[in-house]
Amino acid sequence: MKNNVTVVILAAGLGTRMKSRKAKVLHEAGGDTLLNHIVRAALQVAEPERIVAVVGHQAAKVQASVKTPGIRFAEQTEQRGTGHAVLCAREDVAAAEGLLLILNGDGPLLRAETLLALVELGSRATGEPTLGGAIVTTRMADPTGYGRIVRDERGMVAAIVEQKAASLEQLNIREINPGLYCFQSELFWRHAGELTTNNPAKEYYLTDMVEILARHGHSILPMPVEDETELLGINTRVELALADKILRARKSRELMLAGVTIENPDSVTIDVDVEVGMDSVLEANVHLRGQTRIGAGCRIGTGSVMRDCDVADEVTILPYVVADQAVVRARASIGPFTRMRLHADAGEDSHIGNFVELKKTKLGQGSKAGHLAYLGDSNIGAGVNIGAGTITCNYDGQKKHTTEIGEGVFVGSNSTLVAPLKIADGAYIAAGSTITTNVEEDALAIGRTRQVDKPGWAKKRRQLTASR
Ligand code: UD1
Ligand code: CA
Repeated sequence: MKNNVTVVILAAGLGTRMKSRKAKVLHEAGGDTLLNHIVRAALQVAEPERIVAVVGHQAAKVQASVKTPGIRFAEQTEQRGTGHAVLCAREDVAAAEGLLLILNGDGPLLRAETLLALVELGSRATGEPTLGGAIVTTRMADPTGYGRIVRDERGMVAAIVEQKAASLEQLNIREINPGLYCFQSELFWRHAGELTTNNPAKEYYLTDMVEILARHGHSILPMPVEDETELLGINTRVELALADKILRARKSRELMLAGVTIENPDSVTIDVDVEVGMDSVLEANVHLRGQTRIGAGCRIGTGSVMRDCDVADEVTILPYVVADQAVVRARASIGPFTRMRLHADAGEDSHIGNFVELKKTKLGQGSKAGHLAYLGDSNIGAGVNIGAGTITCNYDGQKKHTTEIGEGVFVGSNSTLVAPLKIADGAYIAAGSTITTNVEEDALAIGRTRQVDKPGWAKKRRQLTASR
């Protein structure tokens, strides 16, 4: 079926009602842009090379925001209506045979199953001169703002009447046009030139194509969809928030059905592309963002926020871990209150505890940094113990420098490691040291002033203050 379908996505509008400097399709719900959600669904019915997004407002930004390679773009420099937008893609798609699927760019809740069903219904029109195609319809409790579906006596769609042009009687129609169309491509382009701006908005209305085709004897099959929420078009931030809520609930449900336990599912925030393995447990108020991947049998503690992280199997993330682009290997235990960023990498069976920050740092297998440390630009081997209060001084005010720590090193508490620095395998750093030069294998390095004891000093001081 895929090689018979061309998709045009309308994404050139600004979306005035969003009250935003940003083009509407760039706004995000469920962890991705409105446009990427539509593209995701479109990919289920067409090859990327046969998907064309019509862009206009902030064309370059919109184009850059699309993640799928191979998608094509057409430009509509002036927004003269949805019909005009499709005409702008003419060069890219008019030669393509088969079905022309046109999708509004502001309906992120659309499910691939619905598109597949629409294409299937549209296929019935193929080679059938009395049929022009098929469109999705739904009944809205409040149809305000949507185009109303006018049916003929055979139940076919005879016309779509826009809110502004509708008669009082038509305004009472609750069956509406959600903006998902499937036309016989050849018929569509044969008659597309007949679109006019003869309407109150002085725009080229794509919706007029239904009436135009009907006039030429090609009727349009309606495809009623029960669940109106799936067809919500986003025009304001209130609808954006609603779409976000629905997408997140969908994502949580999908994960739960795939074997993930989610405590208090309404409280978690999981982006569309996130993956979580079987038997993992997400505690309440967890945020999993971007391209985060969590393995099987993990536990993610409450309040943790992870973006673009790669977490292997059997990992424990204790509460309130904030991690960005971090890698956590099998069976590691992180947190509570750990910060990991910029390719921090916690090795297998390693442990990172509270108030430890790792930046661009690799912590080897089985190594531990249990409390209160800053480890930046470091490469730390296996079996290392980083004492509480250890700081890598990676910045000299101008440049960042690296710290290399070999295998089996013991770094005593409150050590200050001034980079660039190498501490070789098996070395031992005395607590409270400031280390500025390389430490050789198996050596002990002490970098602090020697302790001086003055017997009786304290007692004498007490006597002095008492006699005053
Ligand atoms: C449109 C339909 C309406 C339907 C509703 C569903 C028309 C005339 N009306 O109305 O029947 O009920 O969608 O949500 O089509 N766009 C462009 N270029 C333009 C104008 C719009 O690319 O010149 C894009 C927008 O970016 C948007 C989509 O087309 O993604 C729909 O445009 P919008 O202005 O939201 O149409 P509605 O008034 O909602
Ligand atoms: Ca709209």
